[in-house]
Formats: sequence, C-alpha cells, structure tokens
Amino acid sequence: MVKFRVFRFSPEKDRKPRYVDYNIEDTCGLTVLDALKLIKTDMDPSLSFRHSCRSAICGSCAVSINGKNMLACNTQVDALGKSRVVVEPLPGYPVINDLVVDFAPFFGQYRSVQPYLVSKTAPPEKERIQSVEARKKYDAPAQCIMCAACTTSCPIVWTDDKYLGPAALTKVWRFVADSRDDITDERLAMVNNEYGIWRCHTMFRCAEACPKEIDTTEAIENLRREVLKRAFSRRR
Ligand code: FES
Repeated sequence: MVKFRVFRFSPEKDRKPRYVDYNIEDTCGLTVLDALKLIKTDMDPSLSFRHSCRSAICGSCAVSINGKNMLACNTQVDALGKSRVVVEPLPGYPVINDLVVDFAPFFGQYRSVQPYLVSKTAPPEKERIQSVEARKKYDAPAQCIMCAACTTSCPIVWTDDKYLGPAALTKVWRFVADSRDDITDERLAMVNNEYGIWRCHTMFRCAEACPKEIDTTEAIENLRREVLKRAFSRRR
C-alpha cells in the first residue's frame, strides 16, 4: 500500500494549506498521474490537478513529487520506491487550487523573449533549408515541452520575479543556435543583463529537473559564451 500525502489549498475557501492522506492498495503499473486520477474518481472529487496528453508531451502535469519537480504522467509510483509519496504544486508560483499553479509569470517571461523564428529575408517558395549538422545544434533545447519543471526548481526564480529563468533562457539559446534566425544580436542583448544570463548561479537544479533531460544550465552557459566571444572580438 502507498500513502499519497497531497497538498490541498483553495485560496478562496481555506485560510491556510493542508495535506490530506489517501491510501492506494495496489500501485502496480500506476503512474503518479494515474494515482491522482484514482483519488479524484474514487475518493475525493474535489481534488484539482492539471493533465492532458498522459504521454510526457503537453507538459501540463508537472508537480513536485517527494520534493522534486517531475511529470506526474511519466513517473511510475513503484519506481519511487517509497511507501509514502508527497505530491505538491510546483514551487514558486501562486496556487490557484490544490496542485494547480498560476503560470502567468512563466508564460510572461517566455513571451518576452520572442520565442519564435525571426528571419529578415523574404520567405522562400518552400521551407527554409538547414543542414543536418546545423539542425543538431539545437536538437536538445527544441525538445522543451514548457512544463516549467526547470524554472520552478530554481531558487532565484522563487525570490526574483524579474529573472527570466531557465526555460525562457533555454528558448533564447534555441533560436541563437538556429542558423535560420536573423536576430542573434537582439536576442543576446535581451539576456545580457542582471535579469538574464548573469543572474544564474549555476546550481544545476533546472537541468536536474528537466523531464526531457535538456541541459538548461549548459544552454545558459552557451549564451554567456556567445556574449563574451562577441565582446572580445569587438575589442580586438
Ligand atoms: Fe501531458 Fe503529463 S499529461 S505531459
């Protein structure tokens, strides 16, 4: 039997958060998301959490499981090896209800970095051609599913709402590394400040949390390298 200790808080009704225990007898083959769904259907329909694809694609089910940010749909309960599983909302953002947090700050930072390809040349007849080698440069960051597991793992994000955070910075690197993008200078200027690449303390918590194993810390380091390379070449 596994005891699920689940964070519960409805800011409109509750004065403070609480934890509620739910026991599930047989967790064989269950993901944490399956367990939450079982709790909701069989024990407590008032429990709120987000999910959609159940396939580690949409990024909506990220929660804190035993203190680590993970995708609930991609985490087998038995693989945790614990008789007690604590499920909490992602840290750092306001709780809307139970395990559902307000992602407005996350998507606000994301939108601010122009997370799309910008080309200054006229559109070609078909697609913009890119070599296999050039595509490989941003293979890893292109896997991001915007689940916010990285950004909400970062203690700097918890204390500084102006910091862009690892997900937005990794997105910047994704386009800086893309040979088809034409605003590299603007992108680097956007992050070359105290709320961008220089705010990161290289704690690696973001990279450890990424369910797609994207090295977000390396992406930030790559941006720093690009900024410094350009600064030194201007001085020569
Ligand atoms: Fe889509 Fe988990 S439900 S990533």
